[in-house]
Amino acid sequence: MNIGELINVRLSDDGNAVVIIDQTLLPNEEKYLTLTTPEQMYEAIYMLRVRGAPAIGIFAAYALYVLAGQIDTGDFAVFAAKVNEYSAYLNSTRPTAVNLQTQLRRLTDTVNALSDLPIHQIIEAMRIEAEKIYDEDVQMCSAISRHGLSLIRGGVGNAGKGGLRCDDSTLCESFGVMTVCNAGPLATSKYGTALGPIILGHEQGMKIHAYICETRPLLQGARLTAYELDRAGVECTLICDNMASAVMSQGKINAVFAGCDRIAANGDVANKIGTSSLAILAKHYGIPFYVFGPSTTIDLSCPSGADIEIELRRPEEIKKLHFSKPMAPARVKCYNPAFDVTPRELITAIITEKGVLTGTATAL
Ligand code: MRU
Repeated sequence: MNIGELINVRLSDDGNAVVIIDQTLLPNEEKYLTLTTPEQMYEAIYMLRVRGAPAIGIFAAYALYVLAGQIDTGDFAVFAAKVNEYSAYLNSTRPTAVNLQTQLRRLTDTVNALSDLPIHQIIEAMRIEAEKIYDEDVQMCSAISRHGLSLIRGGVGNAGKGGLRCDDSTLCESFGVMTVCNAGPLATSKYGTALGPIILGHEQGMKIHAYICETRPLLQGARLTAYELDRAGVECTLICDNMASAVMSQGKINAVFAGCDRIAANGDVANKIGTSSLAILAKHYGIPFYVFGPSTTIDLSCPSGADIEIELRRPEEIKKLHFSKPMAPARVKCYNPAFDVTPRELITAIITEKGVLTGTATAL
């Protein structure tokens, strides 16, 4: 699978910085940022310059390694305390995606397990662990893409209650997938999760038509999914979020593919705000609703969706951010949750690197 040379997160060649593509500028500008300070790294996650559950986990691991290299001490206790402080700081950026805390903990655990070694060797072990996190994600996303492809292969014709009603025979013969937010290569190490099977299927000559929900308020669908699928040559149509029901009712959608930010032990899934609405609509129209994510997104310590903290973001994102003039009265209150929870019973299957799974997350 190849959608060009785009690398969203990497260590700089000298290992002293983390380099990211600034996702807030896409699709208009492909600009890379070189980040060295804790404040720059915090800001990059918080402002969604780097985003997507696996990608922020990978980024945080590299970031903690870079910051550890800046700690000027030979004393293990001082070093470990500072690493933990940086880890807590980065972890406080976004609460919903479990990958962030999991991958930071992997690095702090590495530090704590090596207290007998000289500091420079501990830092080297952190680099190796961060690269391992990246490599593992590449493998997991590759496997998820292959498992997801089996759903597309077997599925053409299952277009919900309305059946295939379009007049365009070219469109009717293709597999219609509705997507939300962005769960492609930009949101992971490579390949993506929910977009992985779409890109892979397209590369193998399958006719797939992606219906991309724009994903208000930060437009990850319009700006990022449309950008990635277009670059990959996949046929796609962008829709506003409130058009999903109409498009499903026209029989154009064979399946909904969504990513995830945290999977609770009972199989409830937190993902981008609006995902649960699509799951409810899909159930109404008899369309399968699939969630894709690496096992690093499963949180068995979290019993159900009700226990997942949902990130609340700034009102400005709704009122002003993507408008040339504010599009709401300045004083109006806004509610801006970044994610919602889709209950397990609305999900047809969860696809991880282990396969296509039904049941609760404890079985995953
Ligand atoms: O707020 P974002 O853009 O980080 O939200 C991302 C999502 O909701 C993705 O669907 C999820 O992280 C999975 S990415 C493979």
